[in-house]
Amino acid sequence: MKHDPQSPYYSELRRLSFSPGWARSEPSMWPEPKPKFKPAVWRFAAAKRALDASHNMVPQEQTERRNLIMVNPIEGNSYATTRHLVAAYQCVMAGDTARTHRHSAAALRLVLAGKPGTYTVVNGARIDMAAGDVVLTPAWSWHGHANESSETSYWIDFLDIPFIQLSEAMFFEPHPSGRLEPITAQGKSTMRIPSDDALGPGHEAKTVEIAKDVMPTIGLHLIRQPKGGHVAMPKGTTNNIYAVVSGKARISAEGGFAEVLDRGDVAAMPCWHAHAIEAVEDAVVFRVTDEPILAKLGLVRTAN
Ligand SMILES: [Fe+2]
Repeated sequence: MKHDPQSPYYSELRRLSFSPGWARSEPSMWPEPKPKFKPAVWRFAAAKRALDASHNMVPQEQTERRNLIMVNPIEGNSYATTRHLVAAYQCVMAGDTARTHRHSAAALRLVLAGKPGTYTVVNGARIDMAAGDVVLTPAWSWHGHANESSETSYWIDFLDIPFIQLSEAMFFEPHPSGRLEPITAQGKSTMRIPSDDALGPGHEAKTVEIAKDVMPTIGLHLIRQPKGGHVAMPKGTTNNIYAVVSGKARISAEGGFAEVLDRGDVAAMPCWHAHAIEAVEDAVVFRVTDEPILAKLGLVRTAN
């Protein structure tokens, strides 16, 4: 019998919330990944201009929302940068504080500019922030920010919110104080990882994983390459976001994507795109991935 969706038989199936497996318009499995997300790039200079111009648009009590989310430009997407992660440029203006809160999403930030007096408070511990630092706020840790310097601070936030949304295990809670939580400790913190310290001195090619196993959903690597050096990344199931910490790097991928990124620029590189990172000048590139999620599920795989 020919499939007639208007027939009483199929109408009855729909009424019962059944979909006949033999008459589906789209397959539910396919031979290999066909990512919906695209390689894409965002520029810090453009974000900085727009954030600086946002001065009168964001109420003081929403300082934590003075950010620009890097939305992957694909049909139907209004939030995620890659399948499981989101990145955003955030600024905290001189004298501002962002209220303490916590959430089941894990977060971290790469500081692009922060004069002394810029800090995050994580579970009561003051963590000073300076350019090149990676500052971690694992899932459900209290965190808020302050900028007591006289200049605007900028950083890039990375979170696993798209994955948490997908899992529906979302929780969010504002701190009972309704403001920045009181500081109960300061000094060195394992939640602050200056990229220079992690890489050590020198200019030679080096890749280090940082904060390994601290966040169950997000993997972090710092990639240093001298001018002319390059790293080839295989076609695999991992989704990547790259941000340039220092110098200048060219990111190219199969399919024709090729962009030169300056300090603070960001590129999304979805799964199943072989790609390369090439140092146009001495460069440090931060790689943020969902590899820990996939690894736990046995889904890390490369082509061939
Ligand atoms: Fe947060």
